[in-house]
Amino acid sequence: MTLFDMGKEEARQKHAQLSKQMRAADQAYYQDDAPVLSDAQYDSLRRELETLEQEHPDLITAQSPTQTVGSAPASGFDKVTHAMPMLSLSNVFSEEEASDFLGRIRRFLGLPDDEKITLIAEPKIDGLSCSLRYEGGHLVRAATRGDGTTGEDITANVKTIADIPHTLKGNPPPVLEVRGEIYMTHDNFRALNDRQEQQGKQPFANPRNAAAGSVRQLDSTITAQRPLGFYAYALGQYDAQNDAQNLQTQQSIIDALSAWGFTMQADIRTVEDSAALMANYERLLEKRPDLGYDIDGIVYKVNRLDWQERLGFVSRAPRWATAHKFPAEQAITRLNAIDIQVGRTGALTPVARLEPITVGGVVVSNATLHNEDEIRRKDVRVGDMVTIQRAGDVIPQIVSALKDKRTGNMPEYIFPDTCPACGSAAIREEDEAVRRCTGGLICPAQSVERLKHFVSRLAFDIEGLGSKIIEQFHDEGIIKSPADIFRLHLMNEGNIQPPLQEREGWGDLSVKNLFNAIDKRRTIALNRFIYALGIRQVGEATAKRLAATYGTLDRLQTCMQAAHETSSEAYEDLLAIEDIGPAVAKDLIAFFHEPHNQDVITDLKAALTITPYEAPSSASDHIFNGKTLVFTGTLHQMTRAEAKAKAEALGAKVSGSVSKKTDYVIAGDDAGAKLKKAKDLEIKTLTEDEWISMAS
Ligand code: IVH
Repeated sequence: MTLFDMGKEEARQKHAQLSKQMRAADQAYYQDDAPVLSDAQYDSLRRELETLEQEHPDLITAQSPTQTVGSAPASGFDKVTHAMPMLSLSNVFSEEEASDFLGRIRRFLGLPDDEKITLIAEPKIDGLSCSLRYEGGHLVRAATRGDGTTGEDITANVKTIADIPHTLKGNPPPVLEVRGEIYMTHDNFRALNDRQEQQGKQPFANPRNAAAGSVRQLDSTITAQRPLGFYAYALGQYDAQNDAQNLQTQQSIIDALSAWGFTMQADIRTVEDSAALMANYERLLEKRPDLGYDIDGIVYKVNRLDWQERLGFVSRAPRWATAHKFPAEQAITRLNAIDIQVGRTGALTPVARLEPITVGGVVVSNATLHNEDEIRRKDVRVGDMVTIQRAGDVIPQIVSALKDKRTGNMPEYIFPDTCPACGSAAIREEDEAVRRCTGGLICPAQSVERLKHFVSRLAFDIEGLGSKIIEQFHDEGIIKSPADIFRLHLMNEGNIQPPLQEREGWGDLSVKNLFNAIDKRRTIALNRFIYALGIRQVGEATAKRLAATYGTLDRLQTCMQAAHETSSEAYEDLLAIEDIGPAVAKDLIAFFHEPHNQDVITDLKAALTITPYEAPSSASDHIFNGKTLVFTGTLHQMTRAEAKAKAEALGAKVSGSVSKKTDYVIAGDDAGAKLKKAKDLEIKTLTEDEWISMAS
């Protein structure tokens, strides 16, 4: 009997049964993050239900999964752009590094030796950061950190956390963003895992994963059953002009947050020198096991907000704060094998395969061995018992081998001199620690790594096209070069056999989502595009500088061709860019000179719309934006470092030498040759006072 000749009662029963199955599958997929059906099975179930409903329209109700599932937000949460970016922190690991941090601040601000730098020291909570936006004292939006610029809207879930006030007490400014950490206590973590196990579900690896998994529930009633806490620690955007508290220090922010109704950590201290800072570090290290929640270090923040403002940021981290990390947790296990991985630039990296072991709550089965010198220095051999350590989220490391535990004949490890992926010679350049495969474009490992980089988060960031899928598509020859990604939908209509939607693990829905995600990235900012190319030594910050300098891809290409001649003006211009020295220039020029890379770019250009890099908006209308500045002579009101940072924050480039391309020369006391050259070239010169008033 088919669905079509079913009797009324039978149809009703069948409908109830299919609906139940679909609801269970939906719950597993959307709410438990643990699908019970493959996409193909899910699609077929859905089609069966739809066919039945077409035959028996009276069975359709508003609650039917066919009516509700379609509207389930399969792609997750809405995106939220942070009014102020959510940054990360630099790290220090020792007293020496902590005191260097203080020294850098002193030098940057040009403080005399007897001027105290007061720091606020707060435990660094190991949870997930969250930004809460209050308007008129009411919580209007909560967002995850995401990539720091754009996060996910988790308002509904966050409202279930008891520590987070829906309405603020006292007299908060009209617009206020509060930053803090969502976490789970040790007690609650253990209780949750007991419940998970009783229900036959997978336990969470650690409290942070449990907190993150709970916040990422699409159904906030599930989050509500998860015992989460929140500690506030900083402000994002806030309306200082309308702020009754007139905040001047980090301490006053802490007091204000508390007065507005937030829970603050108990162990916050003030420290003023490295001795006090170390005493507090030792104190917390000892207290760490009894705190009741996970911390992975201490965050130091300069107390004076005017100093914070002057210190500003480097790349994604403030100069006025740092994290003093606790030592890593260690364990001993067996080294089963050493595998060699080949990276996107051909670097051969040894990876230790370990007998799985729990370190600090997480099961570890791989560790990094860095490079061949490291293996030799530590004399690590396959079969050794080794001490491994894990600090925070970084890849675990091998600390040492326990040589007295060696049994029998265990040969020294010999690092390969050929590429394990393509067999080409692997060569170590003088002065380089890494050995690289010389196979270049013929090496499949390099090409797959380049593709993974191309779709990674700071590059094209294509949702649903992660490393695993790239590997699979690359192995099958479906995606060989980046532009193939943008032809995938066409290929799927004939060339790919079987088509994606008919494969295990795929279905109509997931294929549609993938193509939508790819389409969303057909328009891309130039800086992301440059970063995505995976040029050696060109990271996010350099890509932004190149995009800001050259404006368009065509110009970048033309100038890189011209710069091939190192006596050219183009080469000089390239070296004038901040942080681009001869080594980076060499890699850039070589990349753009290589015919295959040119083909890849041409191919991509045809598929994409590349938009200009948008510098952070506050800078874009400033008089110094896009200008080239040269500082010369002695400045009195700020150090050279501060002046340079300030200029860059306003969108200017700072160069060390005066040329026709210079827009302004800022001349302090005793300015000499550079000032003279500026006058000869008729370039505008500014005094220190003029610079300060124009820059503020
Ligand atoms: S202050 C400008 N204070 O650490 C950065 N961060 O590695 C301001 N974190 O994303 C951050 N506890 O999620 C600050 N007491 C604390 C913190 C803290 C944990 C996290 C935060 C941030 C990450 C940086």
